[in-house]
Amino acid sequence: MNRLVIVSNRVPPRERSSAAGGLAVALREAITRRETLWLGWSGATASAPAVEPTLHRVGRLTYATLDLAADDYAGYYRGFSNGMLWPLLHHRVGLSEFRREDLAAYRRVNHTFALALAQLLRPGDAVWVHDYHLFPLGAELRALGVRVRIGFFLHVPFPPRALWEALPDGDALIRDIGTYDVVGVQTEDDARHLNELLAMQGEVPRARAFPVGIDPAAFAKAARTAAGGEEVKRLGQSLGNRALILGIDRLDYSKGLVQRFEGYAKLLRRFPEHCNKVTFLQIAPVSRGDVTQYRSLRRELDELAGRINSEHAEFDWAPLRYLTRTVRRNVLAGFCRMAAVGLVTPLRDGMNLVAKEYVAAQDPDDPGVLVLSRFAGAVGDLEGAIVINPHDPDAIAEALHVALSIPAEERRARWATMWRGVNRHTAASWARGFLAALEGVAASRAA
Ligand code: ADP
Ligand code: F6P
Repeated sequence: MNRLVIVSNRVPPRERSSAAGGLAVALREAITRRETLWLGWSGATASAPAVEPTLHRVGRLTYATLDLAADDYAGYYRGFSNGMLWPLLHHRVGLSEFRREDLAAYRRVNHTFALALAQLLRPGDAVWVHDYHLFPLGAELRALGVRVRIGFFLHVPFPPRALWEALPDGDALIRDIGTYDVVGVQTEDDARHLNELLAMQGEVPRARAFPVGIDPAAFAKAARTAAGGEEVKRLGQSLGNRALILGIDRLDYSKGLVQRFEGYAKLLRRFPEHCNKVTFLQIAPVSRGDVTQYRSLRRELDELAGRINSEHAEFDWAPLRYLTRTVRRNVLAGFCRMAAVGLVTPLRDGMNLVAKEYVAAQDPDDPGVLVLSRFAGAVGDLEGAIVINPHDPDAIAEALHVALSIPAEERRARWATMWRGVNRHTAASWARGFLAALEGVAASRAA
C-alpha cells in the first residue's frame, strides 16, 4: 500500500486526547495502519519562517511540523484563514475582514508548506490536503513539479456563489481548488455551491460529498467506561435529581451559543416548571482567542451567562454551568451519556461531530434526546433528532421543553434511528471512501 501524506494546518498534539476540533478528531480515528506522513503547523511562532520541517516519528506515523513567522501567523492564520475565510465559508460575510497583506501571507505560507512537503514526497504517495487554510497548496505543489495524486477535503461548509463573490480575488482560489484530483466536501449542498463556481472558472466541477463521521463503537465504549469514573460520578452527585442539558463546542460564533443561552433562558421563563429541575452544562473551550470576533463573543457570553444565573438561580441551584476549558475526550463521552438532552445548535456547521458523539454515547435502554440545528451537516444523518432553527431562541426553548418530557419508548425509537445514522457515515468509511476516490484517479492525470 502506498504511503499516505496528510497536510493540515493543525497537526494534533502528540498527547492527542485533548484535541478539540472536528478535523483532528475525524482524522485520528480514520488513519489506517498504512505508513503516514502528516505535515502541518507546529503551533509555534518564530522570528523567521522555518523551511526545514521538524520530523517526529510515532510508530508508522511521521509528523513533519513547521513554525510560522509571527507575521505569517497574523496574516495567514489569524487574518485570512480565520478573519476572512472562516466567516465567509460559514455564510457570515458581515463578520469577514479582508486585507490584501493577509491574502499575501496566506499565499506565502501555502508556498512555504509546498516547498517543505515537495522535498519529502516519494513517487506513489497519495497526498490528502485538509481545509480552508490550504486551498492553494495543490496548485503550489503542481507548480513545483509534483506529479503524485493530490486530493482536498473541506471540513467546513461552502457558501453559495452570491456570498463567495464577496471575496476579493476569490476566482483565483477557485482555480486553485480546480487543480486537485479529488475535491471532497461535507454535503450535497456544499458540492453544488462549489461546483457552480468551478464550472464558471472553466474547471471540472468535481466536488463531491463525503460526509465525515466518528468511530461510534469506540465512542460508545468510552462513554460506558467513563460512566464509572470519578468525574462522571462527581457530576452526577452535583446534579442531584436534575436533568442535564449538555452543550459541547469550541467557543465559536458559528456554534450559535448566544441564541442557545437565550433559548435556555426562555425555557426557564416560559416553562417555569423546569426551574430547579434541570441544569445546563455548556463546555466551550476558548478557540482563536486572539481573533477580534472571538474575543467579543466571549465577552457577550460571559455577560449572558451571568445574567441567566442571577435571574434564575436559587440558593441551592445554578441553572447554567459554563466552562471555557477543554475536557478530556473520554470524560466528555461520560458526560454525554449522563445528559438527558444534547443541545447542538450551530448557525452553520460543516458536519458537527459533537452531535454524532452525543448519539453514540447514549445508553440504548435509556437514551437522551438530541436537539439539533437544521444548519449542521449532521442533520442529514440524524433523523430522530428534534430539529430546530437555531436563530430562534423560542424554538430552542420549545424543543427543550418537548425533549425533557419525551417518554422512554419514543426516546429509544428516536435513538435507534440516529444510531443507524451515525453508523452510516463513520470516520473510517469517510477516509476509505475519499482515499478510494483518490487512488482511483487515472494515473495519466496524476503521473
Ligand atoms: P469543529 O470542528 O468546528 O470544532 P466538531 O463538532 O465537528 O466542530 O468537532 C469538534 C470535536 O472536538 C469533537 O470531536 C468534540 O468532542 C471535540 N471537542 C469539542 N469541544 C471540546 C472540549 N470542550 N473538550 C474536548 N474536546 C472537545
Ligand atoms: O474542523 C474545522 C477546523 O477549522 C479545523 O480545521 C481546525 O483544526 C479546528 O476547526 C479547530 O480550529 P483551530 O485549528 O483554528 O484551533
